[in-house]
Amino acid sequence: MSASSQSEPRLLFISGSSREKSFNKKLAKLGENIADANGIKGTFADLGDYPMPIYNGDIEVNDGPPDNARKLKALMEVHTGIFIASPEYNASFSPLLKNAIDWVSHIKDGGLQVYRTRVFALGAASPGGMGGLRGLAQLRLVLENGLNALVLPDQFVVPKAMEAFDDNGHLKNKENQETFKAVIQKLARAAHVLHG
Ligand SMILES: Cc1cc2nc3c(=O)[nH]c(=O)nc-3n(C[C@H](O)[C@H](O)[C@H](O)COP(=O)(O)O)c2cc1C
Repeated sequence: MSASSQSEPRLLFISGSSREKSFNKKLAKLGENIADANGIKGTFADLGDYPMPIYNGDIEVNDGPPDNARKLKALMEVHTGIFIASPEYNASFSPLLKNAIDWVSHIKDGGLQVYRTRVFALGAASPGGMGGLRGLAQLRLVLENGLNALVLPDQFVVPKAMEAFDDNGHLKNKENQETFKAVIQKLARAAHVLHG
């Protein structure tokens, strides 16, 4: 099934952290729930379910890209919009996410194409006061400059993440949750206009 055969957008929500109690997982899962609640098909992906070795050219030459990179690419291909929630590590995004992005990009049959034919939106959650905003600037650079991806200017960050979510995984601040919903709806609209 290819995404272009869909008549409605399908959004993939990826967390750049595989930590069990990850705030970014919470954010990505909340995104999926908001999408579903608003009639948009959403899928949550945990990069922890797609373990891959750290990229090494010798591994690639000898064994080819890991099966999990191919699986992740296939998952991306059946969605037209992709929301990525990434933690900020020392003002950049997570190595888990960078490694997955790099492996997928080097798959010969369509690895780059999958970035050029989806619409992306970015988000982050952090216990800190800036919500991981600086990491998103780096992630945007990689997607836009490195991979020619279309990344919406809208992004959504959750500062002070330890206090931000309620027990159901919703944002306690309802205004913020509405803002997140607006980003998701815009991503769905953009994905629909561009990719059906
Ligand atoms: C190596 C490292 C560097 C970090 N650097 C930052 C940082 O620059 N800015 C920030 O807001 N948080 C930083 N943090 C804290 C993370 O935001 C925090 O661990 C967060 O919970 C990770 O995301 P997760 O909850 O989705 O796993 C850093 C954490 C680690 C382990």
